[in-house]
Amino acid sequence: MQIEAAVLRDPAGPLVIETLELAAPGPHEVLVRIVGAGMCHTDVLPRVGYAPTPIVTGHEGSGVVEVVGSAVTSVAVGDHVVLSFDSCRECANCLAGQPAYCATFMPRNLSGRNLDGTTGATDASGAEVATRWFGQSSFASHCLASDRNVVVVDKSLPLALMGPLGCGIQTGAGSILVAMKVQPGTSLVVFGVGAVGLAAVMAGVVAGATTIIAVDLQQHRLALALELGATHTFHGNDADLLGEIQRVTGGGAQYSFDTTGVPAVMKTALACLRMTGVCGYVGVQLGDLVLDGSALVGKTALGILEGSADPHVFIPRMIELWQAGRFPFDRLIEQYPMSRINEAEASSLAGGTIKPVLIPGS
Ligand SMILES: NC(=O)c1ccc[n+]([C@@H]2O[C@H](COP(=O)([O-])OP(=O)(O)OC[C@H]3O[C@@H](n4cnc5c(N)ncnc54)[C@H](O)[C@@H]3O)[C@@H](O)[C@H]2O)c1
Ligand SMILES: [Zn+2]
Ligand SMILES: [Zn+2]
Repeated sequence: MQIEAAVLRDPAGPLVIETLELAAPGPHEVLVRIVGAGMCHTDVLPRVGYAPTPIVTGHEGSGVVEVVGSAVTSVAVGDHVVLSFDSCRECANCLAGQPAYCATFMPRNLSGRNLDGTTGATDASGAEVATRWFGQSSFASHCLASDRNVVVVDKSLPLALMGPLGCGIQTGAGSILVAMKVQPGTSLVVFGVGAVGLAAVMAGVVAGATTIIAVDLQQHRLALALELGATHTFHGNDADLLGEIQRVTGGGAQYSFDTTGVPAVMKTALACLRMTGVCGYVGVQLGDLVLDGSALVGKTALGILEGSADPHVFIPRMIELWQAGRFPFDRLIEQYPMSRINEAEASSLAGGTIKPVLIPGS
């Protein structure tokens, strides 16, 4: 069928809305009509060489199932779904309930292609365009997903807002609640309060952390962090940042979480912990992390994918928290028509819009 999709052809160029020919769903695939697609910082990775172009990105889609493949039993035509990352559900980690660490996570999610190298879509000239980004490529009117990476949600929910639960919000909240298991009455420092970091701040409140410190370079993001439950904020360039955190936490935090990927910040995230402290890293790392001999003594550092969450378990939990008024992730969202996707990307990269959600057909 013909679909409209935002195609990145030149890593340095704009995203251009094009008509593509999308294959029919395979036995375990579903065709989803996208109603909203969140933009996550990871969507810019093809611009810096992580995946070849031409490609359709977008990996926080939500929409309505229009066609199901012959072997699909877990989802039906008309179901409302949130699309998340893909996994095989068969490898040892998947079977142990850890699909974020699926043995084929990287090729399934970060190549834009199926495991056999095919894409599932061609452009007007018949050339292949990668459309399997995180098993979806949802910056489009429609996309193919698998029966593994769609999570059915209640039809009464505002579906267009739900897509970001599939990656960025899940990563921030899951890191706190699933991966690091932050305990009540403890201290948490979040470095970088964009979409992932602010979800971590909100989840810190849910977990019962009593001291929540937000660190960022943007004052308006720090102000929002305070509204969402941070107890203290510091500017990332504060010359005595480590000293300030140690004073506020009485000698070091129990948990820290880095979303910046900046090696110097990652070092501070480890240094600000007391012994027994746990540090979670999720940001795409922007250089080698070199630690001195005592940096890890008595401390734990975790590299986390997707909050270590199983979307089929964790997305319903986040929705319950949101409905209970305890996880207002919708406050991070600003909607844009798909035709303004380049503006949304520019604003997000400049630190403006925290979580753009693109609306196809507009
Ligand atoms: N591991 C995963 O599974 C996973 C999932 C989703 C996103 N990510 C990654 O997480 C990171 C964050 O994603 P996001 O969508 O929240 O991005 P974002 O750009 O909205 O947030 C990053 C924040 O870090 C701040 N920052 C940058 N340098 C800083 C510094 N030196 N000190 C303090 N703050 C600083 C920025 O101002 C910004 O607010 C990205 O690298 C993204 O690719 C990883
Ligand atoms: Zn697997
Ligand atoms: Zn993402």
